[in-house]
Amino acid sequence: MSEMKGKICILTGSNSGIGKETALSLAKMGAYVVMVVRNQERGEKALLEIVKQTGNNFIDLMICDLSSMDSIRSFAQEFKRKYDRLDVLVNNAGGMFNKREVTPEGFELTLAVNYLGPFLLTHELLDLLKSSAPSRIINVSSGLAKNGKVDLDDLQSEKNYEGTKAYARVRAPVYANTKLMLMMYTYELARRLKGSGVTANVLMPGFVATNLGKNSGSLSSSLMFKMVRPMQASAKKGAETSVYLASAGDVKDVTGKCFTKKKEAMTCPASYDEEQQKQLWKKTESMLGLTSE
Ligand SMILES: NC(=O)c1ccc[n+]([C@@H]2O[C@H](COP(=O)([O-])OP(=O)(O)OC[C@H]3O[C@@H](n4cnc5c(N)ncnc54)[C@H](OP(=O)(O)O)[C@@H]3O)[C@@H](O)[C@H]2O)c1
Repeated sequence: MSEMKGKICILTGSNSGIGKETALSLAKMGAYVVMVVRNQERGEKALLEIVKQTGNNFIDLMICDLSSMDSIRSFAQEFKRKYDRLDVLVNNAGGMFNKREVTPEGFELTLAVNYLGPFLLTHELLDLLKSSAPSRIINVSSGLAKNGKVDLDDLQSEKNYEGTKAYARVRAPVYANTKLMLMMYTYELARRLKGSGVTANVLMPGFVATNLGKNSGSLSSSLMFKMVRPMQASAKKGAETSVYLASAGDVKDVTGKCFTKKKEAMTCPASYDEEQQKQLWKKTESMLGLTSE
């Protein structure tokens, strides 16, 4: 019997791309998959496809807009009303935007979806993850994080917003910054969770053909993403490391690491700066109105 049978797994952004393929694979293994999406219609369409392909009927659909901290808090409350355990949390949803946009709660959109959202969602579900231990947190970052910088005095990119640009290759500085923050957050989180039975790892899925970048609002990047399609891996391939970290027995005790192609990988020197990780954590808590435990 698969070790994943009946394991309750939350997958954010699971109506498309890497998230959908991850949901499909985990559903095939018999996991109880909770697809967390922002759009009911797109979510239902993906859910029906997954049920049809896997024959697994234990798939739930829940709505959460990860750019909205209110939505995340309501989702977490509802999840805890419905479920009394959580075995795997995959923070997969992400976005890349050309123009600076600010959410109604006052957060720059890329920061909200790619970093603040996963931070808050994890925070809200941490008690359940701890009581369900052994359990796993998996954060989907990006190889572009190596180009990122964390300016603690300008996390909202108010002074300098450089969106998605594509010439010979994709340049997305704000996106890269948020993915670097997600990496640094994972390393700090893993340290804080030592001994709890909850692991936290981050991954880089590679260059994958999905909807990412398609709706960034930049014509040049949309065209560029179309041109590079043949060079991109399939979403199924891109999901392999997420599936591995969510399910493989050989990583059950591994924590605080980054993976790519199902192997541990070093990340850029900035990501390992513990002092900066701690400062980022503090600043994030204050932005989200949280206090240290
Ligand atoms: N593709 C690559 O080459 C690549 C490389 C490195 C890292 N990644 C990362 O991989 C992850 C998955 O992306 P993907 O490539 O599979 O792209 P994708 O097909 O665009 O999937 C992104 C998912 O995130 C969801 N999402 C976006 N904003 C959201 C919000 N505000 N609230 C809730 N869900 C939201 C999307 O929902 P909608 O369908 O409703 O928009 C979609 O389900 C992302 O974190 C991305 O940064 C991708």
